[in-house]
Amino acid sequence: MSKVQLAKGIYWVGAIDWDIRNFHGYSTHLGTTYNAYLIIDDKIALVDTVKAPFFDQLVERVSEIVPFEKIDFIISNHVEMDHSGSLPMAMREAPSAKLVTLDRFGVDGLNKHFHCKWETIAVKEGSELKLGKRNLTFIPTPMLHWPDSMCTYLIDDKILFSMDAFGQHLATAKRFDDEVGLDTIMPQAAKYYANILMPFGDLIVKAVDKLSNIDIAMVAPSHGIMWRSHINDIVNAYASWGKSESVAKAVIIYDTMWGSTEKMAQALAEGIIGEGVEVKLYNLTKSDKSDIIKEVLDARAILVGSPTLNNGVFPSVAEFLCYLKGLKPKGKIGASFGSYGWAGGATKAIQQELQDAGIEVVDSGLAFKFVPVKEEMQKCAEFGITVSRRIK
Ligand code: FEO
Repeated sequence: MSKVQLAKGIYWVGAIDWDIRNFHGYSTHLGTTYNAYLIIDDKIALVDTVKAPFFDQLVERVSEIVPFEKIDFIISNHVEMDHSGSLPMAMREAPSAKLVTLDRFGVDGLNKHFHCKWETIAVKEGSELKLGKRNLTFIPTPMLHWPDSMCTYLIDDKILFSMDAFGQHLATAKRFDDEVGLDTIMPQAAKYYANILMPFGDLIVKAVDKLSNIDIAMVAPSHGIMWRSHINDIVNAYASWGKSESVAKAVIIYDTMWGSTEKMAQALAEGIIGEGVEVKLYNLTKSDKSDIIKEVLDARAILVGSPTLNNGVFPSVAEFLCYLKGLKPKGKIGASFGSYGWAGGATKAIQQELQDAGIEVVDSGLAFKFVPVKEEMQKCAEFGITVSRRIK
């Protein structure tokens, strides 16, 4: 296997998962990587492990550099099993290794996952670990992505091992940002942020502030490429996403039973296009919710449509709204629309869900009986214009 060096004596030893297409419900069309890093000094440290089925890749990469059993410290930056899954095997293969993890949440989380008694060093903000010539320090970043999350900072080489933060689900043959290109990386970084970190925007802003006081030459996340040439691009993007900054853009998300709600969605889009505002339109039967959420990230308006089914919303729309609510988008306006047969009910139910998601509902909902007539289609287009003028 080819060696990837971040700096002299510091290696990427992770695993490439080319085939994964669903990461706990998040569509990973381009695969992912589980990044682990090896630091060679008087003492040898492994930063994170990999998802359990990929342990052999980790062992093979480490073994090309140093016998695995020589590892002195295994640092767990994050308890989630895409990074800790092979920890029991790693601790077994390196019997002298001490586990290094965040005090309380890391220790407790790993105990509750693996029920093992490992010799553990519990670290806190500012704790230092001396490896020889090199020193590590630890920066808790709670909820990015779990309470146990922390970054490990290699002081001497100015490398930040940032775990999930700044990561992307992206499998590539190359490991660095300047080898892959921002056009490929940034959409995946945005999708990662939108689906994994959006609920924690306030904490992201604090974390970015905290990291701005640190001299960083390289950011080495737990997924995707490492940042060495475009650090400002990703840090600035996180600062913007954390503050929920948005652009003049509307996302229309709907499902349809016999095509009427779809007609309404298209009329809304035409109204928005006519105003020169960016619009994206998604049929929930044909599109993936985690792709849609990436578009929601920087949108100012979200228009959700559903036919009425049994006095409520279509199941696919209900699922999407449940997902959206959990991600707590901020600073957006929303509205509902849809066709109904007799009693109706979908548009009101959508409005409630949008409000519960923290979205400002700006209309009482466009609801038309069965197949919309020309005048009703015109009302949809006019509503598209109204929304556009509000978000320009
Ligand atoms: Fe990549 Fe939250 O684990």
